[in-house]
Amino acid sequence: MIGFIQQNTGREWALKPVKVGVLGLGTVGGGTVNVLKRNAAEIARRAGRDIIITHASARDLSRERICSTEGIILTADPLILINDPEIDIIVELIGGDVFAKELVLKAIANNKHVVTANKALIALHGNEIFAKASEKGVIVAFEAAVAGGIPIIKAIREGLSGNQIQWLAGIINGTGNFILTEMRDKGRDFSDALAEAQALGYAEADPSFDVEGIDVGHKLTILASIAFGIPLQFDKVFMEGITRITPIDVEYAEQLGYRIKHLGIARKTPEGIELRVHPTLIPDRRLIANVDGVMNAVLVKGDAVGATLYYGAGAGADATASAVVADVIDVVRALTSDPENRVPHLAFQAAFLADIPVLSSDRFKTSYYLRLNAEDRPGVLADVTRILAAHQISIEAIIQKEPLENETAVPIIMLTHTTLEKEMNAAIAEIEALLTVAGKVNRIRLETLG
Ligand code: NDP
Ligand code: HSE
Repeated sequence: MIGFIQQNTGREWALKPVKVGVLGLGTVGGGTVNVLKRNAAEIARRAGRDIIITHASARDLSRERICSTEGIILTADPLILINDPEIDIIVELIGGDVFAKELVLKAIANNKHVVTANKALIALHGNEIFAKASEKGVIVAFEAAVAGGIPIIKAIREGLSGNQIQWLAGIINGTGNFILTEMRDKGRDFSDALAEAQALGYAEADPSFDVEGIDVGHKLTILASIAFGIPLQFDKVFMEGITRITPIDVEYAEQLGYRIKHLGIARKTPEGIELRVHPTLIPDRRLIANVDGVMNAVLVKGDAVGATLYYGAGAGADATASAVVADVIDVVRALTSDPENRVPHLAFQAAFLADIPVLSSDRFKTSYYLRLNAEDRPGVLADVTRILAAHQISIEAIIQKEPLENETAVPIIMLTHTTLEKEMNAAIAEIEALLTVAGKVNRIRLETLG
């Protein structure tokens, strides 16, 4: 135990160490043990007392770990930790939303504070979990659930709390960004890049969560709640993954001065809130367009501060542990505070969450990149532009490319001005019905993020 000197009085004080139980010793659990052990002295100076991991659980106790478990009691039964009256804080790093929910609710019922990196758990069950935690006067902290090591929850919830947040947009899945970067820079194939992201410990247990936009949807749900003061509503997020991005669209986008990134976007409009996850063309001069590999970045626009950008590692053992450990320290600092005066779980006081509607996708307003394959003869382009005009869609740029190898149809690329998604859906259906247009229209949304 470390003894502290209180500078102003010269009195020595030493508080009882805080005992932590870690559920899960995989990528993030292992990283958390490493960081808490490696930086123990510095952490104790910050927290004002020692923080010790006394117990940890994993399914397979014989498995080799990325951390030393010396001095930690290991068990395959998470309930041993949850029911141990000596443990003050449970750190949930198992993942999934069923068993993890059961464990977290039991920990709360046993008056334990909880730290978790589990975005699925918070996005799907956070409203219920926070209500139970408030009843019991315990904290549930979840900084690591969004954007790995970037302290984005703290930045929005506390640093920007004087602002009305207007919109935010983020690259918030490390695996997806890693895959897109590898495909673009090294011409690697999708499945090969995904396999490497899995080997590096970035991917979810079910990697379709990463590539189909579900993980981004979970994180966006959390960010939107703390930005706009609305309940967590994962079921209302529009999600499109990265599996349909083709190398040819990446190349055409680059020729036009754009990068394709998988963004989570939350925007407050007079009609309601847009919550959407999809591949997005971003002008290549924007900093966020140049965020590559496992790195994440979140742009947040507040009415007072203007645009702010947060950047850092979005996944991985130590980077995520950085956020988990910061939460543990925050909990330790708050142990003696009155629960009524703590920072609210979702940034706004629970009784004042607003019932602002979340818009359905046909009410989104954005610009588009469209690619279609059409017969190379007079009048074809005129038919396409007539359909767009009939739906009040104005074209910003139009380019006809050379036919691809072994193809007779010519690719036509269009960029549009901002339009209503409902009009674009109708226009695309009419264009696809033209006999002179072959196959589907490939549509990617475009944001200038100005
Ligand atoms: P891992 O799969 O690497 O680790 C999960 C751990 O939980 C393992 O130790 C595993 O035991 C244990 N576990 C799994 N299922 C059970 C169960 N049913 N009962 C008891 N123990 C169980 O996952 P990660 O560390 O990657 O992720 C953990 C959480 O952190 C997830 O919610 C994830 O979304 C989130 N997260 C992950 C990040 C990352 O970079 N990987 C970044 C940010 C958040 P065993 O090892 O014996 O199999
Ligand atoms: N699978 C997630 C990602 C982990 O790749 O971003 C971090 O939340």
